[in-house]
Amino acid sequence: MRIGILTGGGDCPGLNPAIRGFVLKALEYGWECRGYLNGWKGLVEGSYKPLVLEDVQDIIIQGGTILGSSRTNPFRPGKEADLEATLKNIKEHGLDAVVALGGEDTLGVANKLHKLGIPAVGVPKTMDNDLNATDFTFGFDSAVAVATESIDRLRDTARSHNRVMVVEVMGRHAGWVALYSGIAGGADWITLPEVDLNVEEMCNHLLSVRERGRNYSIVVASEGTEIPQSEDADQTLDAFGHMILRDRGVGEYLAKEIEIRTGIETRFAVLGHIQRGGAPSVFDRVLASRLGMKAAELVKNGEFGKMASIQSNQIVGVNLEDAVASLKTVPDTMYEEAKVLFKR
Ligand code: F6P
Repeated sequence: MRIGILTGGGDCPGLNPAIRGFVLKALEYGWECRGYLNGWKGLVEGSYKPLVLEDVQDIIIQGGTILGSSRTNPFRPGKEADLEATLKNIKEHGLDAVVALGGEDTLGVANKLHKLGIPAVGVPKTMDNDLNATDFTFGFDSAVAVATESIDRLRDTARSHNRVMVVEVMGRHAGWVALYSGIAGGADWITLPEVDLNVEEMCNHLLSVRERGRNYSIVVASEGTEIPQSEDADQTLDAFGHMILRDRGVGEYLAKEIEIRTGIETRFAVLGHIQRGGAPSVFDRVLASRLGMKAAELVKNGEFGKMASIQSNQIVGVNLEDAVASLKTVPDTMYEEAKVLFKR
């Protein structure tokens, strides 16, 4: 058997441990592994490198992806030639299966290929943790750890300068990173894409914190929080067609509003890609290794159109369709639960 593996979308810690888990299991089965370069672009162009034991033995501690990544989407309207090239390369390279490590975009492509008859299997990665049919995606725990450590550091400056500090974290359309890092970092307020922004309520709360005698506050804001946008706001799209959220300036907007409405000196920090780099956390190393091995098992059993998933700490196979049909967003109940902690 000859299997092609690729990593697509935003990189995150855990991709390399997952590649390693897959390859080590595949070697046990006696398969040949090819790593396609830079996401689906590798299959469009037919560019790959063979993956042997020496390539993966030391990568469990490495962030990023040894295969490179991109947001290439061969199903994007107008890219019909890319899809044709992908199908041709899969056939001509003699691939018995394609294993895609990615989030909703990358796995959405895997699902569509499966529907066209390509034997495809998925592995759930994304720091956003917004894939359905799995309790967690790898990359999320590591990103939350970085965000929480950053909040801890920013707290020192907030306290020393009697300020409000707004910390903008990633997460696109789901607020998981903001919610978890906000709880772990003891935030005084958290804003999410899933919850209507109420600036007045937030500012009143920040004032009450000050009246209580605490001289600083921390606000954790998800980059996807809905804020008023001017009509000429930058709408730059990435290769998958998503708006680049960083350009919306959620942290900056909130910091200005807070300072104007409360009179408290306020600063903001945008963590950006810092959250996606560095060595994977222990949780992500173990999760990614288990999911990578499971992907090989799914291929072995001919369970195509499936994704390796963690549910109640069991590694199982689920339908790719169920994982990508809709986003897993933060439920209202979890936000309400977190709000109790703002009073601290
Ligand atoms: O989906 C992962 C993610 O890191 C989002 O949280 C973020 O909005 C986006 O990717 C950033 O993408 P890029 O690396 O293309 O700037």
